Amino acid sequence: MQPPSDLTDIEERYRLHAAEMSTSPCYHAWASAVADDPEVLRRLSGLPPLKQQANLVFAAARRHGLAPGPYDDLRALLLGPEWPAVRETILARRTQTNEVARLTALTLALGMLGDGPVALVELGASAGLCLYPDRYDYLWGGAGELLGSGGPTLRIPVSGPVPVPAGHPRITARVGIDLDPLDVTDEDDMGWLLTLIWPGHDERRDRLAAAIEVTRAEPPHLLAGDMLDRLDEAIEIAAASGGTPVVHHSAAAAYLDEHDRAELENRLRTLVAAGRCHWISLEGPRVIPSLAVTAPRPYAADHFCLAVDGRALGWFQGHGAALGWVSPEPAGEYPSK
Ligand SMILES: C[S@@+](CC[C@H](N)C(=O)[O-])C[C@H]1O[C@@H](n2cnc3c(N)ncnc32)[C@H](O)[C@@H]1O
Repeated sequence: MQPPSDLTDIEERYRLHAAEMSTSPCYHAWASAVADDPEVLRRLSGLPPLKQQANLVFAAARRHGLAPGPYDDLRALLLGPEWPAVRETILARRTQTNEVARLTALTLALGMLGDGPVALVELGASAGLCLYPDRYDYLWGGAGELLGSGGPTLRIPVSGPVPVPAGHPRITARVGIDLDPLDVTDEDDMGWLLTLIWPGHDERRDRLAAAIEVTRAEPPHLLAGDMLDRLDEAIEIAAASGGTPVVHHSAAAAYLDEHDRAELENRLRTLVAAGRCHWISLEGPRVIPSLAVTAPRPYAADHFCLAVDGRALGWFQGHGAALGWVSPEPAGEYPSK
C-alpha cells in the first residue's frame, strides 16, 4: 500500500529499522508491517522524531504487557485505548540498550593504546555496563583469546588482522555521562534494560543479567547531563585518577543532532591533538561520516564503525554478532601518554 506523502519519511525509517532488525524475526516483521500501515505510521508520526524509533516503540508496547507475536496485537495496542499509557512510556523512557558485547571491540582498541593505566570516560553510558572491560574474558573466534579476568566470557567471531592484546587494560576510573543514567541497583531501571533486548536474543538477555552483577559489585561514577556539557568535567575527574583518559562512545553520538555531532567531533579531535585524551568511537557509519569514509563500506545495515583517535579500524555488528578488522595498524602507532 502506498503511504500518504507526509508519511514517506517515517515509512522509510521503519523500512530501515526492519533491515536493522533482521536478527529478530518478531521485530523485523513488526517494523516491516508498520512501514506498510498508514494508520499506525500516522499515529507514530505524532511523536517527537527521536521517539518514533521502532526500538523504543516496541519496547514500550512490551512494557505494557504485549508479548512478542502477531503484528495485529501490536497494531491493536497502538491504535486502541491503551495508546495514551504506551505513549507516556515512550515519552518518559529512552532507548538505553547497554550492550557489553561492545567490549569485544573496545578492549581491542584499548589494547592499541599501550599497557599504561587508563581512566575511562563513556559518553551516553546508560547504566555504565561498558566501563568494565577488565572484568571479562574474551574469545575473538578465529584470532585469539584473553583470559584470566575471573568474570563472564564474551565471544565474537572476527575476520581480518585483529590485534589481540597481551593483557587486560588497567582501569583507574570509570566515569560515565548520560542524560538519564540508569541505576544498576534499581529493579525498575534494570527491568527496562531487559525489555530493550529484542525478542529471540536470549543470549543477550543472559549476558545483560551477568553484566548487571559485574557492575553492581563496583558501581561506576555516572554524571547526569548532556555529554557535551559535562565532557570536560568528566575528563578532569578521570585524569585525577592517574590513568590516561580515554573517552569512548558507542551507539550514543547517534542521538545527537547534526550540529552537536559536529561539535563533539571537533572537541574530541582537539582534545586528542592536545594530548588530553584518547578517543574510541563505535557508531553507525552516518553518525560521524569522516570516520567511516576512511574504512571500506560496511557489509550490513546494522554495522558500526570502530575508530581510534579519529581513524577507522574495523566494523562491528551493533549487538556483537561479528567484528571485522580493516586496518592493520602497526603496534606502537598509538603510544600511551
Ligand atoms: C543506545 S544507549 C548506548 C549505551 C552504551 N553506550 C552502550 O553502547 O551499551 C545510548 C545512551 O545515550 C544516552 N544519550 C543520548 N543522548 C545523550 C546526550 N546528549 N548526552 C548524554 N547521553 C545521551 C541515552 O540516554 C542512552 O543511555
